[in-house]
Amino acid sequence: MLKRGAGRKISTVLKNKRLTDKRLTAGERKRLTVKKSESGKIKLLVLFGGQSTEHEISCLSAYSVLNNVDRRVFEVRVCGVTKNGDWQPVTGIPLEEIKDGRWTSRVTEGSGMAPALECVRWCDAVFPVMHGIMAEDGTIQGFFALNRKPCAGPGVLASAVCMDKAYTKIVLEHAGIPQAKAVIVTRGEIENGFDSVAAEVGEKLGYPCFVKPSNSGSSVGAFKVGAPSELEKCLRAAAEFDRKVLVEEYIDAQEVECAVLGNEDPVASTPGEIVSESEFYDYDDKYINGTSSTRIPAAIPEEDRETIRKLAVKAFKALDCAGMARVDFFRERKTGRILLNEVNTIPGFTDISMYGKMLAYDGIPFKELITRLVKLAIEDFEHNKRHLSR
Ligand SMILES: Nc1ncnc2c1ncn2[C@@H]1O[C@H](COP(=O)(O)OP(=O)(O)O)[C@@H](O)[C@H]1O
Ligand SMILES: [Mg+2]
Repeated sequence: MLKRGAGRKISTVLKNKRLTDKRLTAGERKRLTVKKSESGKIKLLVLFGGQSTEHEISCLSAYSVLNNVDRRVFEVRVCGVTKNGDWQPVTGIPLEEIKDGRWTSRVTEGSGMAPALECVRWCDAVFPVMHGIMAEDGTIQGFFALNRKPCAGPGVLASAVCMDKAYTKIVLEHAGIPQAKAVIVTRGEIENGFDSVAAEVGEKLGYPCFVKPSNSGSSVGAFKVGAPSELEKCLRAAAEFDRKVLVEEYIDAQEVECAVLGNEDPVASTPGEIVSESEFYDYDDKYINGTSSTRIPAAIPEEDRETIRKLAVKAFKALDCAGMARVDFFRERKTGRILLNEVNTIPGFTDISMYGKMLAYDGIPFKELITRLVKLAIEDFEHNKRHLSR
């Protein structure tokens, strides 16, 4: 439902050529050379689950995407991926079974992708409502690229780079985007050269600092390190999740997020804020205790919101994103410094997830957002496929 005042927002946005300029016109629709099913609808495969630590979140996201997808536009088939990587078509089952995990009882263990290949062949486009490694990191995007199917969200390169926080830092540094100072260490260096790692962290970052795996999500394996004596334990725990670990300066900050939508000419939403009661925005806070709340717009000065919007679009372009991304920032309490923290190429899609909420605030309801993301994927696919032989 639109917030009070959203109407005014939309007209401002229109004037600024932000969000609404991507609404598909009749001409654009004509350009999309999608095979239509007999019903005249776009055949959409919604993929969910996956092998990452964010499997359960993905099931919640899929539940709300399936509840909201516009069935006048799409003919929908659904396929789950188990934690072991088995793909199972589950079209038509009660959505509650997707939400609570009962759908996995339908899976033949060890079947791999085979049961899903018919769905892959069938579809015109895919919406991978999946997070984390083997989902949001370019692997799924590559699979569908090979099968010549448009896939919602960024492609192989952007997905892989954004999944790897260490690599994202390298690209964003090149683009001149402000970020927290960091030391990147490998599991081998932690095990065999801890003393020199500790020396570098003490010298470059000091304490407290923050440790997190380079490839992870939902705050899994992330720790605030209060003193040098805690560093080794935290590094080893983070290294359980990835070969590469980031140690960052600790930023005491407001956490501000911004939704970006579009392909060549992406637009940024009104930034929103996560208000967490924990020491940092951890997994329990995000999904279990409900101890965090959100605020749209973020309670920061308007000029900072504008800075964040601009940085979000700049990062989106620098990372070669397409379709969507949620770009997360810190606004340091003491100094007001704005730092980019991370870029999520398949953000959460539950009813209360920030990506959808920020765009709804700006006048794009969830149902329409899903439609637009799929159409952007088809548009991007058409644009990119020109170099392929026929
Ligand atoms: N350098 C940092 N200083 C303070 N807190 C941090 C820092 N990096 C991350 N955090 C906290 O940890 C949470 C998770 O880290 P993040 O980088 O967003 O990874 P992900 O969400 O992918 O797990 C952030 O939302 C924030 O609360
Ligand atoms: Mg995060």
